[in-house]
Amino acid sequence: MTKNEFCAIFNSFDTTKVTCSECSHYSLCYYKHFSELLNSQKVIKILEFGVDKGQSLLMWNRLFANSEVVGVDNKEDRVANAGLICADMDITVVCGDQSNISFLSDLIDNFGKFDIIIDDASHISTQQITCFEYMFEHGLLDSGLYVIEDLGTSYWSDWCDGETTMIKYLQKLVDSVNHRFWKHGRINVKQLPGTRVDGASYLEENVTSICFHRGICFVQKGNNF
Ligand SMILES: C[S@@+](CC[C@H](N)C(=O)[O-])C[C@H]1O[C@@H](n2cnc3c(N)ncnc32)[C@H](O)[C@@H]1O
Repeated sequence: MTKNEFCAIFNSFDTTKVTCSECSHYSLCYYKHFSELLNSQKVIKILEFGVDKGQSLLMWNRLFANSEVVGVDNKEDRVANAGLICADMDITVVCGDQSNISFLSDLIDNFGKFDIIIDDASHISTQQITCFEYMFEHGLLDSGLYVIEDLGTSYWSDWCDGETTMIKYLQKLVDSVNHRFWKHGRINVKQLPGTRVDGASYLEENVTSICFHRGICFVQKGNNF
């Protein structure tokens, strides 16, 4: 699928990824990161937190000819409505809270791990962090991609209810990607990002790249030992 074809399909759906003026570049960002997966012969499993009208679930289903799509939303009426418009397709809509670990654990038990996880739900930093920490480790396949949308909320007080913000949390992952250059025991380290002397963390060993665009971030999982 060419970039133009991808963007034309993407932009034909009535999702906030398209209708919100701050998000008009999302189609190009997604094409850049999804283009390899689009040509994959295997079934691509996609999980999106935040369903709203179900339009983005329909969009992923249309873009990935061979896919299984799961959507999660904490509003029962939205889940019911989206469930109706997505019926008879490889799309499942589930009611649950992205920050509830026991729900997330059940979700993985029921659907297994995913190739792609997209967080377009509450946009509240503490919930985004909780969801990322659990799902990146337990719910994402080894070469999977985790996407966090609408990071502009990290700069707005109503969405930041904890000591840090999602954008600051993600900024720290840049050091995780580069941990082999500053890990304990490495000689000649001029600037240590942290003073920890124990072994590498899960994220240090499993985040291979992090890519920021305006308002949206793509975190690649892989072997970073
Ligand atoms: C921006 S809308 C999703 C838009 C949709 N992904 C699209 O592109 O068309 C955000 C959705 O997240 C849901 N939501 C808010 N907080 C949530 C939470 N803690 N867990 C799960 N869903 C949540 C809202 O009910 C709302 O439907």
